[in-house]
Amino acid sequence: MPRREVLQELNLWPVWRLRVASPLPSDVAGEVTLSPDMPVNRRESILSMEWDELRQAVSGCTDCRLHETRSQAVFGIGDEQADWMLVGEGPGAEEDKQGEPFVGQAGKLLDNMLAAISLKRGRNVYIANTVKCRPPANRNPEPDEVAACEPYLTRQIALVRPKLIIALGKVAAQRLLETDQTIASLRGKLHQAEGIPLIVTYHPAYLLRSLPDKAKAWEDLCFAVRTMQGLQSTAQIAS
Ligand code: URA
Ligand code: SF4
Repeated sequence: MPRREVLQELNLWPVWRLRVASPLPSDVAGEVTLSPDMPVNRRESILSMEWDELRQAVSGCTDCRLHETRSQAVFGIGDEQADWMLVGEGPGAEEDKQGEPFVGQAGKLLDNMLAAISLKRGRNVYIANTVKCRPPANRNPEPDEVAACEPYLTRQIALVRPKLIIALGKVAAQRLLETDQTIASLRGKLHQAEGIPLIVTYHPAYLLRSLPDKAKAWEDLCFAVRTMQGLQSTAQIAS
């Protein structure tokens, strides 16, 4: 049996791929839909958008229930040609209010983490989230919400083409790597997502609650810096 079918059978194939891979109802006239409000060609259309169109699509998006409770969608911010891309989970209260990722308490820690490796928000760094709208009461996004929001992040990654992605926390890591493995088993290794090298570390909000793991997050950042140095020197040799 092909791998995808096996994973589907075991219910392990991520739901955001399942949506695309599922057989389509063939008896629907006109535009084929998987659910009444989600055209199948929606994903393809998002994957061909340029920045302005993508930004507009996100700000008006009503494709999952998270739009009902958001104040505004939080698109992402930073250098659109950055070498570094950081991916979090979803907006919290402060982000929902201000429209920018990582501006609350966790964001302050993230800024300090970036400063520790001589990086700064917006300068060679792009920051985005797995879901663009705040889950109520800061709960984790549900798999169907992650699935609905998947094309936006996928397109952001394709447009930025960073040299390295850092997945912050479980939701981002599992979504980007299409896995259900834990952070503990994913960190310390060089992965790939969308053809781009990817490193996993703890989410800054988790680090605020779990100080001992800050040392491990520091190791991850050092690993990321070494990896980036390697990637940048390889690029120089190639050019
Ligand atoms: N946590 C996240 O994952 N993203 C944010 O933007 C803020 C907090
Ligand atoms: Fe749309 Fe994503 Fe917001 Fe859901 S979370 S409404 S898919 S932008």
